[in-house]
Parts: sequence; C-alpha cells; structure tokens
Amino acid sequence: MRVLVTGAAGFIGTNLCTLLLGDGLLDEGVEVVAVDNLSAETGQLAPGVELHEVSCAELAESGELLREIDAVVHLAGKPSVDFANDHPMEAFDANVRDTVALLIAAAEAGVGRFVYASSNAAAGNVDGPVHEQVLTRPASLYGASKLAAEAYCIAAGESYGIETVALRFSSVYGPHSRHKGSVIHKLIRDVIAGRILIVHGDGEQSRDFIFVEDLCRAVVAATRQPCAPVLQIGTGERVSVNELIDVIADIADAHPEIEHGETRLGDVRESVSDISLAREQLGWEPRVDLREGVRRTYEYYRAREAAPGEQLAGEREGAAT
Ligand SMILES: NC(=O)c1ccc[n+]([C@@H]2O[C@H](COP(=O)([O-])OP(=O)(O)OC[C@H]3O[C@@H](n4cnc5c(N)ncnc54)[C@H](O)[C@@H]3O)[C@@H](O)[C@H]2O)c1
Repeated sequence: MRVLVTGAAGFIGTNLCTLLLGDGLLDEGVEVVAVDNLSAETGQLAPGVELHEVSCAELAESGELLREIDAVVHLAGKPSVDFANDHPMEAFDANVRDTVALLIAAAEAGVGRFVYASSNAAAGNVDGPVHEQVLTRPASLYGASKLAAEAYCIAAGESYGIETVALRFSSVYGPHSRHKGSVIHKLIRDVIAGRILIVHGDGEQSRDFIFVEDLCRAVVAATRQPCAPVLQIGTGERVSVNELIDVIADIADAHPEIEHGETRLGDVRESVSDISLAREQLGWEPRVDLREGVRRTYEYYRAREAAPGEQLAGEREGAAT
C-alpha cells in the first residue's frame, strides 16, 4: 500500500509516518510518500522518511507524486486559531484552496482514498458532545476554513468518485510537538521550566485531549476502510484546563503558580467528541488515557531538556490555542 502524507514534518505527520513505517503496529508493509514545504520549521522527520520538499500547491499542480497512490492523508495547513484570525486570507489559501487543488489532482490521478485532517473547530460551539450530525457553528475563522475544506471533500466524493473522509480531530497531544502552541504542550513546557502558568479565563473551559498515537491509529484505519464522509476522532472524555494542570503538576511533582488572563474571543467553552461512529466504522478505540499520555509527553520534553536543541516557534512565543 502506498500512502502519501502531506505535512509529514509536522507534529501529527511525524508521529503518523513513524507509525506507518514502524514495525509491529501494522500487519503489512506500507510505502510512505512524505511531502512538506518545511514552512513550520519543525526540524524533525520520522526515521526512514525521505521527504519531498514541495508545497501542496506544487504537488497538486504537477500531479506526479500522486500517481499510484492508494491513499492521501492531507495534514498540511495552517493549524492555528490566532493565525487564521490575524491572516484570514492566508489561512483560507492554506486550509481551503490547497485542499481543493489537492482533491482535484488526487481524483484525476486515480487516488483511492483521501483522508482530510479536520478539527472539532469545524463544529465550533455545540451543546453537548460533538457528533457528525450536529449543526456546525464555527467560532473561529480557523474552524470555518476546516469546515469549508470538509464540504469540498464531501462534494469531491459525490462529484468525482474519489472516496473521502474528513476526520474531525479533537485536541491532539504527544511527542514531536515542540513547535506547537496548543494549551497542553505549553502547560507541560511551562511546568518543566518552572514558569508561571497563564490560564485564559477561569480554567473551567474543557477539551477532549487525544494522545497522538491513538489519533494516528484512527487515521491509518481510515486510509483502509470505507466509512462515513465525516468522523469524530477523540476520546469522548471531557477534561477542564484546571484538571489538566492537576495531572501535569502531579506527574512533574511540581506546585506551579497560576495566573488567570482574559478569556479569548473565539475560544470554544466546551468541546468533547462523541466517537461512537468512528468506533463502529473503523473498529478503532483510543487506548492511552490522559495520565499515561501526559506522562509520555512529559518524558519527551524532559529528554529534550537534557539534550536541548534549537528553540522553536511554539517554545519562543508560548502561544496557547
Ligand atoms: N494538533 C492538533 O491538535 C490538531 C487538532 C485538530 C486538527 N488538526 C489538523 O491536523 C493537521 C496537522 O496538524 P499539526 O498539529 O501536525 O500541524 P503542524 O503545523 O505541526 O504540521 C503541519 C505541517 O504542514 C506543513 N505545511 C504547511 N503548509 C504547507 C504547504 N502549503 N505545503 C506543504 N506543507 C505545508 C508544515 O511545514 C508542517 O510541517 C492540520 O491540518 C490541523 O488543522 C490538528
């Protein structure tokens, strides 16, 4: 099986390529065609990966790398609420325009399946667990761009016959995330560095935190199995930022100081996924609980602290999303 992964040098891309190429986790050999334009400057790549350093626009334009590909996993994009609010047209180009171009090129090249990395942000402000039938109400321009790309995936499936699935990821965490500004990674880095933790609002806002290895197993399943055009991928567990801090502090045996900042506009108050359909259709189940996932992520950062590398954007800016 030949799988093309865009955004292969990113957080999820590095973990996904590691899983696809690693031994023991998959029953058959997989050939990975890895694409990234290195714009996120992550300075990382899964072992054994040969990178094609091209942009998604170039990939779609030439179509060459898409030949004889069984499945495309499209991870590349601008995955930031702040970036999309500050640069809406650039976020649109990266998250929507590039996805449309890639969908058309993949259909023309005869690619079997197209797995799109969508987000719970596409659903936005929803009362109760987010499932595939909810009325979507994105609270951020990032969420709107993911929802628009989802719609193009569904339409390409109907119009061009390419099988597509938009997987709505909840908040993903784990190793290879040094450049990420997401709240869980920032909190772990701040606890290790002994910095004051800045919490937006009262800390009772909640997310569904999924360990990246569990997420990647769902992505792999979706490259192989026909399924509904949209699936929620998370854990089904709602965790508040305050609860998360308790878990991190306990694992680190730390007593961090906490300061409360203003609530951020466009921030969803509660987000938890209903993963019943993904369970049923992908035969998939998250396995790593929050404590174990945080412990593994914490150990990844501690190991990096022992052998520090170049500072990356997320570490410098410390932006929480
Ligand atoms: N991390 C999360 O919690 C999360 C949650 C929901 C959805 N997602 C989605 O999953 C996907 C991957 O997220 P991530 O956290 O790994 O992000 P990331 O920023 O770590 O990785 C994205 C990668 O794409 C590359 N890239 C960006 N624009 C490109 C282009 N035009 N051409 C080629 N490569 C390009 C970047 O260099 C980077 O390596 C994104 O689409 C994101 O919206 C992520």
